[in-house]
Amino acid sequence: MTEAHRTIMERLREETSGHHKDAESRTLQRQIAKGTVERGAFVRYLGQLYLVHRTLEDGLREARVKHPAIAVLATSERMRVPDLVYDLEFFEVAPESLLPGRATRRFVSLMEKVRASDPVALLGAFYVVEGSTNGGRFLAQVLHRAWNLDGDGLASLDPYGDRQPLLWGAFKREMNAAAFEPGQVEAIVGMAKRTFEAIAEISDEAASAG
Ligand code: HEM
Repeated sequence: MTEAHRTIMERLREETSGHHKDAESRTLQRQIAKGTVERGAFVRYLGQLYLVHRTLEDGLREARVKHPAIAVLATSERMRVPDLVYDLEFFEVAPESLLPGRATRRFVSLMEKVRASDPVALLGAFYVVEGSTNGGRFLAQVLHRAWNLDGDGLASLDPYGDRQPLLWGAFKREMNAAAFEPGQVEAIVGMAKRTFEAIAEISDEAASAG
């Protein structure tokens, strides 16, 4: 199929499938999937994701006014900061006390640059984190059982529950309906790749630090 015939969501899925495989094979992700992850490592990971989401969601909120696609896609329901704050507080971590690790610092600074120069590209990062709710549902069930939790502490991993497939379908439709220029599509796909790489590195740092 030629570039012109592929939807942006097809391109994102196909062109980042290797990145997904790489991310899900990192030690921390494998341990989450097996239910063997140490709580400390998981909480460190959530803390770094909080710092990532804070920058990403601030950037998207700011850009909503100028970019109709961002206004449609970046709804308050899709913002993960409130879930991350809730989870971190459950694990007795004060979000305002968190410091970024190396990989987070690098990625936050990339997002700040993109926010200033080409904010539509932030949708590439948004695709990755929103898409991660697909596996997140399953991962939350594993940890729920492993840690005997009552659903607390895992809101950011599984924010939508049974509505996840429906909401992911809506996200795909909204992305495909947006009138992106070809250069914007390239920038979004490029940013999605950088985001997978950043989250893979953040996973490694969370697994090894501590
Ligand atoms: C053990 C870790 C993981 C597992 C088991 C997992 C599993 C899955 C599954 C089952 C899907 C649905 C695939 C399909 O519809 O064909 C999916 C989709 C997705 N996951 Fe993961 N995942 C993991 C980690 C991650 C991480 C760390 C990220 C982000 C950095 C991520 C981002 C995504 C995205 C963006 C999609 C949507 C792909 C698309 O259809 O465009 N996943 N994942």
